[in-house]
Amino acid sequence: MYSSHELVGVLGSNGAGKTTLLRAISRMLVSTGMVRFDGKTLTRMPAYKVVAEGICHCPEGRHLFRELTAEKNLRLGAYLRTNRDGIESDLERIFSPFPMLRVRRSQQAGMLSGGEQQMVAIGRALMGKPKLLMLDEPSVGLAIRLKATIFRCHR
Ligand SMILES: Nc1ncnc2c1ncn2[C@@H]1O[C@H](COP(=O)(O)OP(=O)(O)OP(=O)(O)O)[C@@H](O)[C@H]1O
Ligand SMILES: [Mg+2]
Repeated sequence: MYSSHELVGVLGSNGAGKTTLLRAISRMLVSTGMVRFDGKTLTRMPAYKVVAEGICHCPEGRHLFRELTAEKNLRLGAYLRTNRDGIESDLERIFSPFPMLRVRRSQQAGMLSGGEQQMVAIGRALMGKPKLLMLDEPSVGLAIRLKATIFRCHR
């Protein structure tokens, strides 16, 4: 259970099942049990419909489209948005906490540093305008200053 504007952390040792939990919610993993969100049951939905319901998952390991540019990866996060208005301003909003992405926007994602790739992965998830943003190991590969930035982004 969570409420709007709430930040929830899931803690557990290696192999405890944190990634499995997020994958079950976003339906990247077929699981038993029930997932309910915003009054709807997601259990039998394919993953892309879960995104349309407002859940965006930034996965452990980033899973970028490595041969596409950083900007194309970011724009793909908005792929399912029916209202295209605001996409340009949302892109600018991503560049505000992560100014290095503006510099790197035309470079292939696979050529970026680990920390920059993590910023792209988080930015891509934010471009979906999620009601629920799920970040798996969000601070891996980031400098300490950027770790603080990420956890301020929800405000
Ligand atoms: N509830 C569960 N029942 C049975 N097996 C599970 C369950 N949850 C997770 N597993 C299995 O445990 C293994 C590790 O889980 P997972 O990768 O989700 O852990 P994690 O907490 O994300 O670990 P890490 O901190 O290393 O990222 C996986 O092989 C997964 O299939
Ligand atoms: Mg994990």
